[in-house]
Amino acid sequence: MDAREFGGGLAWKDRAREALATSRRRLLDLLRPVPAEVLTAQHSPLMSPAVWDLAHVANYEEQWLLRALGEARLAGAETDRLYDAFRNPRRTRGELPLLGLREAFAYAEQVRERVLRMLDSVDEEAVQRIGQLLDGGFVYGMVAQHEQQHVETLVAALQLVTSTALEPLPSTAVRAAPRTALPREVRIPASAFEMGSDAAWAYDNERPRHRVDVPAFHIDRFPVTNQEFVAFIEDGGYARRELWRDAGWDFRTAERLEHPLFWRRAAQGWERRRFGLWERLPADEPVCHVCWYEADAYARWAGRRLPTEAEWENAAAAGPGSSTRPFPWGDAAADRDRSNLWPVSGHPAPVGAFPRGASAWGVEQLIGDVWEWTASDFVPYPGFRAFPYPEYSAVFFGSDYKVLRGGSWAVAPEAIRNTFRNWDYPIRRQIFAGFRCARDA
Ligand code: AVJ
Ligand code: FE
Repeated sequence: MDAREFGGGLAWKDRAREALATSRRRLLDLLRPVPAEVLTAQHSPLMSPAVWDLAHVANYEEQWLLRALGEARLAGAETDRLYDAFRNPRRTRGELPLLGLREAFAYAEQVRERVLRMLDSVDEEAVQRIGQLLDGGFVYGMVAQHEQQHVETLVAALQLVTSTALEPLPSTAVRAAPRTALPREVRIPASAFEMGSDAAWAYDNERPRHRVDVPAFHIDRFPVTNQEFVAFIEDGGYARRELWRDAGWDFRTAERLEHPLFWRRAAQGWERRRFGLWERLPADEPVCHVCWYEADAYARWAGRRLPTEAEWENAAAAGPGSSTRPFPWGDAAADRDRSNLWPVSGHPAPVGAFPRGASAWGVEQLIGDVWEWTASDFVPYPGFRAFPYPEYSAVFFGSDYKVLRGGSWAVAPEAIRNTFRNWDYPIRRQIFAGFRCARDA
């Protein structure tokens, strides 16, 4: 970690204040227009009632930005237990004696007031005393990113609501000039690059930065689109045993999967449900709401495969030179000319929409639109050290989870970068996940 990233000393404090303010604004902007009964209900065993996420965000902030820094506790042990993600599996959270909506908002506000007062008082002596948690303001970055991650979780929970159409969620068209003349894949020569991050606010699972050799490969310029995925369906993709892994076939059979989640075949053609409203399936948007097994089967059908995590990061962060970049386009923070992130459009953008977001290798739409499944299991990098607690990443390492990269349209710009690693079970479909294909060169 390098505190000098922000100009040395306590210069990170301004960025910490800004990150906290931004994440809170996003959370409140999302929740405010949603009816109270929608926020307090559990709509699916896969996602918590929104009011749980809200109080969990507040409780997490209390633990890390008050108590861990030496401030007195606000909530009791019972509150800690209710909002502990490990103690309470998602499907059980609707049954818990949760705080009411008003109390949950008030708790979040109360914690935040104290946090901002405490932050004002942080000085060099505190940094010395607390140590690594405050190095470069790490723990503030961790909490602000956590809040943003729960904003995406909340959006995914709201997408599962069928009782009402949630008009307040933005839907803005992103216009794309068709750029079909471009070759559909990019060849990346055998190369070595520095994978991972040592930025002050990077998570433990992104560390340490280490050199990786990647053999030559081809990778799609764009994510696989709805239209391309329809071709797989129409070619019997869901019925052809040989395209599926054993576990994928079992899942597909048990769940009777025949198309991505939130799709239906209507008389006029394919439609998708978006926050309770059915609409025509946009042909050129990246396919979304497919599980890893569906992505893997599609790739096999296409005579290709999913990229490894190292290939994906190489395509995004490296280039013909030797240096790597935090974003595909360079150092600049994400903006709406380069990527489709929260709260720009409310759905994935058509492929070809962001020529300015291309990586040095010329690969596009790596950041935003849809999370991209990779071939890789979620495993630690060589030299990994859990920090500041093993339940963020370390307890998930192993072959149960697959890595996703790049963030979706529901991810905030402050919570995504080339090195960011997300993970989930290969059967999960309610997340905003799609994929692109690769092949050996
Ligand atoms: C990184 C999205 C897998 O939701 O389990 C939220 C993020 N960690 N609270 C998750 C997270 C703690 C995490 N993912
Ligand atoms: Fe959390």
